[in-house]
Amino acid sequence: MSHSSAPTRRVTTATLAALHDRGEPAVWITAYDYPTAVFADRAGADVLLVGDSAAMTMLGHEGTTSITMDEMLVFTRAVCRGAKRAMVVGDMPFLSYQTSSARAIVNAGAFVAAGCGAVKLEGGRRVAPRVRAIADAGIAVMGHVGLTPQSLGQLGGYRVQGKTLAAAQRLLDDVLALQDSGAFAVLLEALPAETAAFIRERVDLLVYGIGAGPHVDGQLVIAHDVLGSFVGDIAPRFVRRYAEIGAATEQAIRSYAADVRASRFPAAEHCYPIDVDDEAELRAARRPRIEVAS
Ligand code: KIV
Repeated sequence: MSHSSAPTRRVTTATLAALHDRGEPAVWITAYDYPTAVFADRAGADVLLVGDSAAMTMLGHEGTTSITMDEMLVFTRAVCRGAKRAMVVGDMPFLSYQTSSARAIVNAGAFVAAGCGAVKLEGGRRVAPRVRAIADAGIAVMGHVGLTPQSLGQLGGYRVQGKTLAAAQRLLDDVLALQDSGAFAVLLEALPAETAAFIRERVDLLVYGIGAGPHVDGQLVIAHDVLGSFVGDIAPRFVRRYAEIGAATEQAIRSYAADVRASRFPAAEHCYPIDVDDEAELRAARRPRIEVAS
């Protein structure tokens, strides 16, 4: 009789649909590296999004449009190595899907080959043909509407979207186009809660939100926002901080630097012990320290 524990079952789009059917919100968080993926997976997150926000959180760019497919794949492979249960979603970077359906399929396929369970791309009606092409290639694909950071120039900055019934209707048309094209889900970003509810009630695909209130099928947060490790000036209203990792990191390195400068580190317990006779012999062979006159 085997006493080994049952293998962890990977979250899939079917798991997400089952959560929805039971009325349980799915937990999404971004991850870009192996340790964060391991910690988030152990903590029970359902989905890890390797967001193109890595451009800002990990690479220090001002926006998301400068990250490349090759860079995204490095982050994605690391996250996939760390995620044992969570589904990993790869975020298709700027110009990896806009220019042609063939290119969109090849790049979506690269995320799948890296270990992703699905890919995400930004836009509604205007990316519907790309969503259709990716879905027809057998790849689970989701859309992203509302505040879409790859189109920040067109949107005029980080602004709440869908603030009127007419704007909500346009967003709904986008989501319906995604649904009709085979998307399994959509992410709503930076919308009033009522707008998100208006959309949620009128579509059949899964609807997730970041800054879109509670009336959706689950929540996404940017790991650096909730962990307090984002370096930058953007502080969205929808973020709740659960840790101060940035401040803790800085303080730890200050303490380390102070210990080195005061010769408190390394101490005896950080040094490799050797045989006492060998140690005495080595000590006797040491050269006297020559003081350099200033
Ligand atoms: O890149 C990302 O993390 C995202 C979120 C901002 C929604 O797409």
